[in-house]
Amino acid sequence: MKYKAPRGTRDLLPDDIWKWQRVEAVFRETAGRFGYREIRVPVFEETELFARGIGDSTDIVRKEMYSFQDKKGRSLTLRPEGTAGVVRAYVEHNMGRGARVTKLRYFAPMFRYERPQAGRYREFWQWGLEAIGSPNPTIDAEIIHFSVKFHESLGLAGAEARINSAGCPNCTPAYNELLKKELGPRLDEFCADCQVRFERNPRRMFDCKNETCHGILATAPSILGSLCDECREHFDAVQRLLGEMSVRFSVDESQARGLDYYTKTIFEIHHAGLGAQSALCGGGRYDNLVEELGGAPTPACGVSGGVDRLVAALEGEGAFPEGAPGPDLYVVSVGEAAEPKKASIAAALRGTLAVDADYQGRSMKAQMKEAGKVGARYVLIVGEDELARGVAVLRNMETGDQEEVAIDDAPAQVAAKLGGTGER
Ligand code: HAM
Repeated sequence: MKYKAPRGTRDLLPDDIWKWQRVEAVFRETAGRFGYREIRVPVFEETELFARGIGDSTDIVRKEMYSFQDKKGRSLTLRPEGTAGVVRAYVEHNMGRGARVTKLRYFAPMFRYERPQAGRYREFWQWGLEAIGSPNPTIDAEIIHFSVKFHESLGLAGAEARINSAGCPNCTPAYNELLKKELGPRLDEFCADCQVRFERNPRRMFDCKNETCHGILATAPSILGSLCDECREHFDAVQRLLGEMSVRFSVDESQARGLDYYTKTIFEIHHAGLGAQSALCGGGRYDNLVEELGGAPTPACGVSGGVDRLVAALEGEGAFPEGAPGPDLYVVSVGEAAEPKKASIAAALRGTLAVDADYQGRSMKAQMKEAGKVGARYVLIVGEDELARGVAVLRNMETGDQEEVAIDDAPAQVAAKLGGTGER
């Protein structure tokens, strides 16, 4: 019996994980500069939270949730996205007291039962920001700016922002009517799913991945013609602010996000190199969700992006030229007498340096080869001859330069050379 990771999931192995760590480090640093503090919420929540938050008629809730009953018969669901859980925590801990804007960030795995393909997984990682507490369009513009800036900071060229408005409960009923009037006569040309969407929430038809449906929808009226004055002014303000901030963007009237909570601004950042799954991140304003989930009426805006896709896009652009980082030092020892020396040198240096060594008593040649393979900056050779003379040889793996150091003083000398302290 051979076990495999479940379909749509992947192991992130040590040879690749450093790329993810770099993405997370840049995310943490950039989000910190924008004033976002980290929050960690549970991997699973009550199913009802997602059904209410994301919307009953969305594909996520209808088809993609990993839901299960616990031993007490409660229905729980692995989080398909981060916003609903973060808003639940915001309300539960009364984080908005003092009427401040609460800015939160996360970097965490999400779960959706989707058809796996390149860039689409059943377990995937998202980075995300949520700014809860203000209707100000500056927040929307800042979040779009962050999304562009973050990708640029990682060295990803060619990411482009596309924005649209989702309107609000004042203007969407008229838009839904208009869609029904325009699309109704051609309803039998749509797929079965879209026919259900037409009845329940015609705007969800824009989520359809079917080519025929897409073709017909390309002729459907844009939401922008149905916006109420408030939504129109807000959308104009976001565009003006993006201009002031020199953020490049285009208006994409056909953009519809796959979650029901959006009001006003919606946006996505796309990358041409990613093929069909080209959305690096997506987000927008959700002014009614906090109230929907039991809090006081509180406007909010956020974004999240797929880390799996981002790493793939960075790989495609050759943005990881450096290769996996290796240890600072690899200690090569030959002969049993050298073993305790190797152990004590490694122990003394590990307070400040990354030190690796051979544990299998292999030949000097095999150990040197291994040191090269793991990308060690330096090698310290404690051979039989050297030990007899009370020295070890320190070799710079990049230049090939070698020098002898007194074995008893090796930790201090190596540390001085490599930048550590040699103290435990
Ligand atoms: P979303 O558009 O559903 O929005 O997902 C955001 C991003 O997660 C996508 O643009 C994509 O990069 C990535 N993603 C989604 N599904 C998958 C998948 N199956 N495999 C790999 N990557 C995927 C949200 O989740 C909202 N919570 C965003 C938001 C935050 N809105 C306001 N605040």
